[in-house]
Amino acid sequence: MMANIRSSAGSEYMRWAKLYSGAKHNLATSGMANLPLAELGVEADQLEINGSDAYGYPPLLEAIAARYQVDRENVVSAMGTSLANYLALAAATEPGDALLIEQPTYDPILGVARYLGLEIRRFARPAEKQFGIDVEDLERNLSPRTRVIALCNLHNPSGALIDDSVLREISDLARKRGAYVLVDEVYREMLFEAQPQSAFHLDPERFIVTSSLTKAYGLSGLRCGWVLAPRELAKRMWSLHDIHAGTYPFVAEALSVLAFEKLPQIAAKMRAMLDENRRLLREFLNGRGDLEYFWPQYGTIVFPRLKRGKVDDFCHLLRNEFNASVVPGKFFEMPDHFRVGVGIPTEQVRAALEQLGAALERYRGQHEKELVFREVKAHQDLERALFKKTPGHV
Ligand SMILES: Cc1ncc(COP(=O)(O)O)c(C=O)c1O
Repeated sequence: MMANIRSSAGSEYMRWAKLYSGAKHNLATSGMANLPLAELGVEADQLEINGSDAYGYPPLLEAIAARYQVDRENVVSAMGTSLANYLALAAATEPGDALLIEQPTYDPILGVARYLGLEIRRFARPAEKQFGIDVEDLERNLSPRTRVIALCNLHNPSGALIDDSVLREISDLARKRGAYVLVDEVYREMLFEAQPQSAFHLDPERFIVTSSLTKAYGLSGLRCGWVLAPRELAKRMWSLHDIHAGTYPFVAEALSVLAFEKLPQIAAKMRAMLDENRRLLREFLNGRGDLEYFWPQYGTIVFPRLKRGKVDDFCHLLRNEFNASVVPGKFFEMPDHFRVGVGIPTEQVRAALEQLGAALERYRGQHEKELVFREVKAHQDLERALFKKTPGHV
């Protein structure tokens, strides 16, 4: 079994997202609309190809540290939250250790855990409990080998925000076991706080926090991610950086510093767009009897359940006949649900929701017809069977 760990490494969800999620009406993305370079107002002479960034670019590390009010020694820069999650798990564990992670969750984190040879255990975030954390279930699933407890805040796929009181309960449990709590806060940036109230401050010895400029600010291409971690662990991450990346692309680091300077303006623009998009989404969902949903307080995503029929069949129809996409719930181990994201420009959200509504109507009609057809067929089969059994019939 050990032999397959690397050759099978990957994420089905990420592969689907990269190759098959695109559509004219795209509700499958979870980030805000791409910010054009022109809006950063950068002049070419503000950039350089090479610079001093042996262990991160100092002005960038300082910008991250200032934003979170932490020491620079607690900051590790990374290529997006993706690599930040990898560095965090790799630095905090040894092969054979256990990772206790929420269910449902963001699939690539599971992929990293498998790749690192970790035992994966789960705790529930039940839809019936508004995707909150079942702390009792979490405690039941801790083992002496648990080195990291992992979750996303806001949650992907539901968008649920976790209370600080729950995070404290979890860090108390982690402390007793000598484990860390990894919180992926990439969607927490969508609260658009000037100084984010990160979980890191609740217990700087226990929490490892990851995030980036990707989701809230439309800056995915900068790959500007980071980890906030206890110092010893941060040092270990820089050692891993030595063997993986050497240095980061300096141009992107320099652009990221300029983006941090403009963050208040970018945040204001994104927030206004998201407020309106969320209003449209809420209105849409309120009008649908065929969906059951939890409404998150923040963020771009919602994870409704299709009450009747099969989500995979519905997604097929949506793509092929309406040129629209959402994320099928199977990628989050909940095949009755699908994820809708409304970070794209408002006019596109409006048009995409129209297509989604039309597709749901069409699917409902088809599904009802299929049910009638199946009922008639079952009835006919029964009649045939009874007829055959009638004594004396030749
Ligand atoms: C929970 C979560 N973490 C991390 C990422 C990746 O973020 P980044 O672009 O910063 O690597 C995503 C992207 O979908 C995500 O949903």
